[in-house]
Amino acid sequence: MKLLLQEIHDKAKNEVKDVFELKNLKDLRVKYLGKKGEITQILKNLNTVGSDERPEIGKIANIVRSDLESLIAQKEKELEDKILTERLESERIDVTIKNKRVKPANLHPLTIVTRELEDIFLGMGFEIASGPEIETVYNNFDALNTPLNHPSRDLEDTFYINNNIVLRTQTSSVQIRTMRDKKPPIKVISPGRVYRSDDVDATHSPVFHQLEGLVVDKDISMSDLKWTLETFIKKLYGQDIKIRFRPHYFPFTEPSAEIDISCFVCGGKGCRVCKGEGFIEILGAGLVHPNVLKNCGIDPEIYSGFAFGMGLDRIVMRRFNIDDLRLLYDNDIRFLSQF
Ligand code: DAH
Repeated sequence: MKLLLQEIHDKAKNEVKDVFELKNLKDLRVKYLGKKGEITQILKNLNTVGSDERPEIGKIANIVRSDLESLIAQKEKELEDKILTERLESERIDVTIKNKRVKPANLHPLTIVTRELEDIFLGMGFEIASGPEIETVYNNFDALNTPLNHPSRDLEDTFYINNNIVLRTQTSSVQIRTMRDKKPPIKVISPGRVYRSDDVDATHSPVFHQLEGLVVDKDISMSDLKWTLETFIKKLYGQDIKIRFRPHYFPFTEPSAEIDISCFVCGGKGCRVCKGEGFIEILGAGLVHPNVLKNCGIDPEIYSGFAFGMGLDRIVMRRFNIDDLRLLYDNDIRFLSQF
C-alpha cells in the first residue's frame, strides 16, 4: 500500500508538471483528489488496511494529498500568470509608435482668394454681410429694379424653385437684405455662391461665385466709387495696373459702369486673351438706383450710394493661372493639394 501511494504520488507529480492548460489541471485534480480520486479512494478504504499499518498509511496518504493540493494550486497560479502576461503582451499599445502621417488639409483656391479680398475690404472699413442662396424673386429681381421683361429673369437663365423662389443669380440680393435690416451709413461686402442655368465648359458653370459691395451714406458720389475700386484693384493687382471705366447698363444702378483692367498677359498691347482689346472686364458697378433705395425704405433725397459686383472665379483663375473653370469644382485632390 505504501508503494502504491508512492507510485501515485510520483505519477501525479509528473503529470502536474507537464500540464499547460488550466482545464487539464482541473481534470488532474479530479483524477487524484476528487470524490472518486485515487488518493481519496485510498483514504476512504483505510479500513481494509491492517490496523497496525493503518495509522502510517493514513498519515502518508494525507501528506501525499496535501502535497498534491499545493502542487496543483501552485501550478494553477503559474498558468494564470502566464495567461495574463500573454494577454497584456498582445494587447499592449505602443504609444511611441509612429503615426501614419496625415497631411493637413489646405484651403480651396476660391477660399484663399475670397479671404484675400475680404482682407483688403476689411482694411478699407467694410463689414461682411451674407444672404441665403435660395432667394425670393423679389429680392433677386424686383427690389433691384429689374424690369419684368428683363432677359435675366428668363427660365433659360435662372433656376426657379417656384414662381416666387429662385437660386439667387447674383449676390446683389444681399444689397436688398442689408438695406432693409440696417440704416445708413452702410459699408458692406458680400462674397458668395450664385447660380445660373449655364452649360458646363472651360469658362462656364451653373454654380459660380461673386463678391458684392455696397456703400450707402449721405453725399456718396461716383468719385467715391472710383477711389474705392481703384484702391482695391491696385491692392490686388499692383500699382502699375491700368483701370478703365466704361458706361454700361444695370437695372439697379444709375449711372452704371463696367470696369476693365489692363490685360495681365500683354499688359495692354492687345493679345489673344484680351481679344485684342488690351483690357479685360472685371466688375460691374454704379450709383445705387433711387428706386432700389426706396424699395428698402431709404430716402433717396437724403442718402445715396454705390454698389459693385465681381465674379470671383475668374479672379481665382487669373491668380493661379488656371485655364479651366471646371477644375475648381471637380474636387480632385491632386489639383486642390497644390495650393
Ligand atoms: N449683379 C451684377 C451681375 O451679376 C453685377 C453687378 C453690377 C453688381 C453692378 C452690382 C453693380 O452691385 O452695381 O452681373
